[in-house]
Amino acid sequence: MTPSSPIASWPPRDSTAFPRIGRLPAYVFAQVNAEKRERIEAGEDVIDLGMGNPDLQTPEHIVQELMDHVRDGKHHRYSASRGIYGLRDAITEHYAGRYGVELDAETETVVTIGAKEGLSHLMLAMLERGDTVLVPSPAYPIHSYSVIFAGGQVRNLPLVSDDEGHLAGDALLAAVEEAATSGWPRPKVLLLSFPNNPTTTVATLEFMEQAVEVCRRQEILLIHDFAYADFGFDFEPPSILQVPGAKEIAVEFFSMSKSYCMPGWRVGFCVGNPAMVQALTKIKSYLDYGIFQPIQIAAAHALRAEQACVSDTREVYRSRRDALCAGLARNGWPITPPQATMFAWAPLPEPFVGMSSMDFARHLLREAGVVVSPGIGFGPDGEGHVRFALIESEDRLLEATDRIGEVLSRGR
Ligand SMILES: Cc1ncc(COP(=O)(O)O)c(C=O)c1O
Repeated sequence: MTPSSPIASWPPRDSTAFPRIGRLPAYVFAQVNAEKRERIEAGEDVIDLGMGNPDLQTPEHIVQELMDHVRDGKHHRYSASRGIYGLRDAITEHYAGRYGVELDAETETVVTIGAKEGLSHLMLAMLERGDTVLVPSPAYPIHSYSVIFAGGQVRNLPLVSDDEGHLAGDALLAAVEEAATSGWPRPKVLLLSFPNNPTTTVATLEFMEQAVEVCRRQEILLIHDFAYADFGFDFEPPSILQVPGAKEIAVEFFSMSKSYCMPGWRVGFCVGNPAMVQALTKIKSYLDYGIFQPIQIAAAHALRAEQACVSDTREVYRSRRDALCAGLARNGWPITPPQATMFAWAPLPEPFVGMSSMDFARHLLREAGVVVSPGIGFGPDGEGHVRFALIESEDRLLEATDRIGEVLSRGR
């Protein structure tokens, strides 16, 4: 290696030789995924409750809208990276109708290639090396990775909830205040996400109001990832933009993946604070040419059409949640039913308390043929838990819980 060599070893032996990639923590799900693939290839019947990849088909009227436009050559050109006006306009209608929030389609909305892409590029647009982002933990992995990619620093705050899954909001906001007033550098951004993946924790509008107030006072920008906006089982999850004045400091991400069963289509959007929306719009204008236009047209149709498909999907997840919880309880692993999302978050059961979540997940895979996500994959605060994704039918979930029950009864 010469002193001027830009990377630590020459020639590079693997991707970790590149500093931006090298800074990333190990991708812990890779281990379980590799073992899962081996077992499936060996012909085993594996019940996969690992990744939150919705199994339900996109509703027919959305697919039909795509079909109606897909053959039209004018849609085969590059589209607009910030999204076509028709979709941005549909987004403003959706927010006005659903949350009573007025948005300007030109300056306060940008379409993204899924929430994940948008979140990552927003961090890249906003952060300078060393900027600190506050992330409640356990966290959906991209909430941390996006900051690291952008050269920023993650400061985790404990995400604590009560026995019923309500956020301990005062404790979280006290930790935000603490981070803002002690320590250096001062945090630039707070990243919230409720209903939460992986913990399923839910937050109230009152909490959102307090969060906006604290962030405004401490001059912290706020990002709210609202991927599970439509998955509150007996309550309506609040949008951060419902808080009066939130737009001055906050943006919200929405994903079409879950609500409209469109994970493979890659559509989401970011709305709210014009400076943050414009930052994301600008960086995207350098990096992409927009989503295939018929997909954007179909996404606009999804937002404008009858919304029964969304509640139907939520009811499927509710029934699956009930099946999973009943099955686990019957098999000696009672858990609190989640109030929202398409997941269940469970402390390790007796007699496995104390085992690492990774070892427990691998044990379940080997002994029961059931894949769950080890809590450690969501950061050190996730240790001692596993996450079930409700992406199999009720019958399969019950089969999974019976198999798990046999493993529990065999003991460690
Ligand atoms: C909290 C959260 N945000 C974002 C995403 C990804 O959304 P999208 O498919 O729109 O990129 C997920 C998917 O699991 C998620 O759980």
